[in-house]
Amino acid sequence: MRRGGDGRRKTENGRRKKKKVKGQERWLFDLAWTDREVGVCYPMRTTGPNPDSRVMKILVLNGPNLQLLGRREPEIYGRTTLAGIRKLMEARARTLKVSLEFMQSNSEGDLVTAIGESAGRFDGLVFNPAAYTHTSLALRDAIAGAGTPCVEVHLSQIAAREEIRRTSLTAPACIGQVSGFGPDSYGLALEGLVGYLRRAGKG
Ligand code: DQA
Repeated sequence: MRRGGDGRRKTENGRRKKKKVKGQERWLFDLAWTDREVGVCYPMRTTGPNPDSRVMKILVLNGPNLQLLGRREPEIYGRTTLAGIRKLMEARARTLKVSLEFMQSNSEGDLVTAIGESAGRFDGLVFNPAAYTHTSLALRDAIAGAGTPCVEVHLSQIAAREEIRRTSLTAPACIGQVSGFGPDSYGLALEGLVGYLRRAGKG
């Protein structure tokens, strides 16, 4: 430990200490002055997630007709199947070191139930509500009620499609929406969600 010209404590390389915070084991990082060669001064102490904590779990939910991807209106939705999207997401999840579960249902009630049961079982949701996006107050209420952070995802750019698709009833209950990047929308949504959860101190 040394002191700088302004009297602040200096530490060298992110010395870590274990501490109990709200019953949960967290790590405190002494980061002050660790980047002083580039002139950045971090706060003396900042909290970060416990590197030993359990792996973050994300539920990827898909609504009606998405089981038809690959052959369903390929000029709009492309040729990638739902199984193909799942593979792409699993590769991204490995890089992000999170675990995924997948579900597709054509039934609004099953989706409502899955969202309602997600609290405490999953850290977050990536959700393509498909046509229910534009009609389902029940799904919006499920997302708001469960409180599990949710990112809405669409293959197509719904804001640039028919009038009826330009309104999302579900998006206001979500932390964000990714729309228009084809299968990559899912990966981008996952990255955004994981970043959000990590900043919130989960996983
Ligand atoms: C969709 C867009 C919705 O309007 C449509 O009903 C779908 C797919 C998309 O991913 O682009 O089924 O959610």
